[in-house]
Formats: sequence, structure tokens, C-alpha cells
Amino acid sequence: MTTKTRTTSSNVRRVPDRRVPVPLEAEAPLDCPLCPRLVAYREANAAAHPDWFNAPVPSFGDDKARLLIVGLAPGVQGANRTGRPFTGDFAGDLLYGTLLEFGFARGTYQARPDDGLALTGAMITNAVRCVPPQNKPTPAEAKNCLGFLKARIGALPDLEIILALGRIAHDAVLSARGVKKSAATFAHGAEHDIGSGLRLFDSYHCSRYNTNTRRLTPEMFHSVFAEIRKRIDG
Ligand code: URA
Repeated sequence: MTTKTRTTSSNVRRVPDRRVPVPLEAEAPLDCPLCPRLVAYREANAAAHPDWFNAPVPSFGDDKARLLIVGLAPGVQGANRTGRPFTGDFAGDLLYGTLLEFGFARGTYQARPDDGLALTGAMITNAVRCVPPQNKPTPAEAKNCLGFLKARIGALPDLEIILALGRIAHDAVLSARGVKKSAATFAHGAEHDIGSGLRLFDSYHCSRYNTNTRRLTPEMFHSVFAEIRKRIDG
């Protein structure tokens, strides 16, 4: 399991020409300053709900992950409250249920970070680590967070497959790997070679909206995981 990491400002190198922050760590510092709008939202949430996590949500899972699942961003009353990706979010019910069904988790998911659930051969992270207002990060915020994703991917020596949940996660993975968008178009069920032995799978995000409108059914989600399981088992 990944533990909370607090990095210092000395761990965040700035590229002088474009002033683009380049985080060197796979996890954002809990007081990450990179996105002013998200910092303001975090501080407002902390004032209103001091018992919530209210910080960049760290990745969760197995350091020996062969599968990395990349979500969008924490939900305000879900991962932002509990401090574990997708935990307490509507989307977590389908995601964690599916991970248990396909052997990527053991235990019981109870929508709280101390439910004892453990991921096996998998890790979950988010393209944007802080909760954004209305669940919508701006392109600049996604860009600010890219260095963490890049480092997260680089810190998993056994990684074979990345599953992007939705287009924003897909684009973030491509940017993190330096792959052109034109080389890998997002589509539910698509699979892309992104170099260095890594394959990117796409799924529609398992959000409440997508499942309620049946853009994504549990069967569609399961079939992506069935394919991933098959590949990993060789
Ligand atoms: N919760 C997360 O942590 N990420 C998402 O993308 C959605 C809900």
C-alpha cells in the first residue's frame, strides 16, 4: 500500500523558461501549491469540513503493480473526504467491485480507507490529485499534475498495462509518456502501444453519469478488465 508522502518544495524543480513545475515525486505533497484554484477549493473544504482529508489524494495499491488504473480526480465527498482514490465515490462501487471480481484486489470494499482492502498487482491513481470544483479540472491543472503521473509510472518497475478511465486520463497518460495524441485516439475498449513495453487500454469513466445513462454498463467495464486479466496472465 502506498503511504502518504509529504515532499518539500525542494522536491519541486521549476523549469525557468516556461515556469512549468516539474515534480520529481510520484505523490504530490499534501500542501501542493501548483494550482491556485485547487488550493483555494481545498482550503474552503478544509474550513467547512476539518475532519475530511482535503489534500492531494495519494495513489493506492501494490508497488509491484502490473496494472495502473488512472482516474480523473477525487470526488469532493468521496476520495477528497476519505483520502483514498475512488473510496466513498459512487464510481468506487463499480471499480472496486470489478477489481475484486478480476483478482486485482482482496478483502471487502467498504468505502472507507481502513476497510482492509488490498490491491494485488494493481494500483489506482488520478490524473489530477486534488479535488476540482464540479469535478472538472482545467487543462492547466491537468498539466500541472503531469509530473506526478510521469513519476508514478516510472516508479512501477513491473508495469505492463495502464487503464485510462476517460479521455482526460487517456490524454494525461499520453502526455506523461510523450506520445502524440494523433497516435492513440481515445475509444472505449481501445488498446494502444505507448512504447517501452507499455500498453494503454481505454474505458469510459465509471462515473455515476456514465453508468446512469448506460454509456458504460457493468458488462462493458467487465469486458475491459477481462481482456486486461487475460493479457497479464499471458
Ligand atoms: N474518485 C477518484 O478518485 N477518481 C475519479 O476519477 C473519480 C472518483
